[in-house]
Amino acid sequence: MSSSSAVTGTRDRRLAAEAIRVMHNAYAPYSGFHVGAALRTAAGEVFTGCNCENASYGLTICAERVAVGNAVAAGRREFEAIAIASGGNDFAAPCGACRQVLAEFAPDMRVIMVNRAGKRKVVTLNRLLPLAFSLRSRAKL
Ligand code: THU
Repeated sequence: MSSSSAVTGTRDRRLAAEAIRVMHNAYAPYSGFHVGAALRTAAGEVFTGCNCENASYGLTICAERVAVGNAVAAGRREFEAIAIASGGNDFAAPCGACRQVLAEFAPDMRVIMVNRAGKRKVVTLNRLLPLAFSLRSRAKL
């Protein structure tokens, strides 16, 4: 492992730990599926979120969007990575709506998925959401 990837690995592990920590605050009485997200800014700050369900189901907010809202409310808009932890055996990839919301700020960001066993899988957002909608025409069709 080169030293820069060792640093990235350490940062990813820390971000994953934050996502696991906040996952325990998830309010998910309907699905029973707990999710935690930890978003790292370009300056290295971390903002977290967990899913917040509602009796009307459709008003449920995902962990990733809560994390983005927390960061934006604090005046941060430059993100480099998000860790997403779930209580599932499989890796929880962000839903389509969350992919679009994350792409608004950082289409190339690292997405670190963490499963119940604490294993990590990393992809870039543009791989999860190619040709994301944008009012600036980034897409070359
Ligand atoms: N959920 C998230 O928090 N993030 C995702 O990317 C996918 C789904 C939540 C929403 C709901 O509370 C529960 O997981 C089951 O769908």
